[in-house]
Amino acid sequence: MAGVIDGKMVAAKVNEETAKMVADMARSGNMQPGLAVVLVGDDPASQVYVGMKVKKCAELGIYSEKRVLPADASQEDVLGVVRELNEDPKIHGILVQSPPPPQIDEREIVRAILPSKDVDCFHPENVGKMLLGDEDGFQPCTPAGIMELLKRYDIDPEGKHAVVIGRSNIVGKPMMALLVQKAKGANATVTVCHSRTKNIAEIAATADILIAAIGKPEFVTADMVKEGAVVIDVGINRIDDPAAKRGYRLVGDVAFDEVAGKASLITPVPGGVGPMTIAMLMRNAVKACAAKIRNKKS
Ligand code: GUN
Repeated sequence: MAGVIDGKMVAAKVNEETAKMVADMARSGNMQPGLAVVLVGDDPASQVYVGMKVKKCAELGIYSEKRVLPADASQEDVLGVVRELNEDPKIHGILVQSPPPPQIDEREIVRAILPSKDVDCFHPENVGKMLLGDEDGFQPCTPAGIMELLKRYDIDPEGKHAVVIGRSNIVGKPMMALLVQKAKGANATVTVCHSRTKNIAEIAATADILIAAIGKPEFVTADMVKEGAVVIDVGINRIDDPAAKRGYRLVGDVAFDEVAGKASLITPVPGGVGPMTIAMLMRNAVKACAAKIRNKKS
């Protein structure tokens, strides 16, 4: 039976470190890190995520602003908010919750965010730096959170076969880039599988580290997992469940119970990768502020 990777516990430690950095900044008379979270529309899951981010800011001493735009907001409306936040000295990080409503061109919005405030690491300039292994740049929150989990559980990807299922710009592609990097805590051999891959199950079953980020409930079954593999589940899927209080329950992209019988370590949903994503976002916001302080001094 696999050990369960406790993302809540690791995230709490990372958050403690972040809160200390915020407190140290205040003690030395420096500015308070500030994060703006922009939500366009009323998607219930996005509302929950945005609420969690704002709440975590308050817990760690980070100033936050929540900007909510209606579901029928125009591209110009959203760009206007981003431009205003770019100019705002209280704000060091800007996040526009993804996905926005269909009339919004997300590519253009992401490119409008100042790279120095792009705490999601979605801007092409930051994605490029990340791919090149630039250590001063941002790292995207979910993949960075997974790397942190591996590190804190002493799982060294070096020389291991990591299989990433999913090629999204938010998780799959940057996950591949971080794992393959020539760097301590990385150096993996990486395979990326996606919807057009012919033999996902066979490839997945060769993984020492298997990362599921496809958004399909319980897609990864025990037959797709090598005995003793480390399994990281990025999925958060709502499944109708009349017996549940809210009328739904959350499941990952991995069939947890059966896969736990084969894996050596596995992340649960909820309580695995999710809390790490928020912890890394908070850390990025503080990093953005620290860079601003350094630039002012030099
Ligand atoms: N939607 C799902 N994950 C993320 C994320 O990490 N950042 C943003 N902005 N939107 C998301």
